[in-house]
Amino acid sequence: MEENDAPILRYLYRHARPRRHLEFGTWEGRGALACLQECDAAVWSINLRDGETDDQGRWAYDAWLDDFTPASASAIMTRTARNGRTVVRTDALGAIGRLVHEAGLGHRLCQIYCDSRRWDRANLPDGFFDSALIDGGHAEDVVASDTLNALRLVRSGGLLLWHDYCPDPLAQETCASIRGVVDAINRLAATIRRHCSDWFWIEPSWILLGVRNDRVFDPGDVR
Ligand SMILES: C[S@@+](CC[C@H](N)C(=O)[O-])C[C@H]1O[C@@H](n2cnc3c(N)ncnc32)[C@H](O)[C@@H]1O
Repeated sequence: MEENDAPILRYLYRHARPRRHLEFGTWEGRGALACLQECDAAVWSINLRDGETDDQGRWAYDAWLDDFTPASASAIMTRTARNGRTVVRTDALGAIGRLVHEAGLGHRLCQIYCDSRRWDRANLPDGFFDSALIDGGHAEDVVASDTLNALRLVRSGGLLLWHDYCPDPLAQETCASIRGVVDAINRLAATIRRHCSDWFWIEPSWILLGVRNDRVFDPGDVR
């Protein structure tokens, strides 16, 4: 993401210039920071408060504490010891969005801590956002739920971006994280097609891009 896809996302934010951007999956805030630095947007971003675990209960995102500057190694970061060194959980409270705060841009970031499938967005009007990046949980049901929320919340002419999408079968075979994304996109293909004037894979990145059309999103009409 950092090396290959971040410049593409930065290019899109620089040119589309969203005023209100939504990101599913904050992690340390790298994606949110890209948007905040490239345009004047305010960013809303959602992440599980306590971080993601795999099937075995292991932390999905962690790092050695020594790799953090003292300022960013917040007291509330979740820690554990491994091989005599301290490991911190990088997608749990205290670490979520930290890069944005370290860059002094926290005043433009609205952080939401929950499972995105349980996010209460009832008071947000349809079309509230100019763009959305779907880059949270990679399980099919999470991606599907985030996609349907984004279709409702992004305005006509706005951008929908999915990260970790790649239609290449070899990439899908070798990288488990993209399978759930591809399965969700395939399942919702007809719905996405109906609500986007254009949508395409940015080859050879791991980004799928859709341009929202002016069709009103009807949750009862999902196929
Ligand atoms: C790939 S990382 C996000 C990367 C981030 N967008 C960036 O640009 O650096 C995925 C994040 O989604 C979070 N996540 C996983 N499942 C989630 C869920 N159901 N609801 C909200 N966040 C979730 C994880 O904790 C993790 O921080």
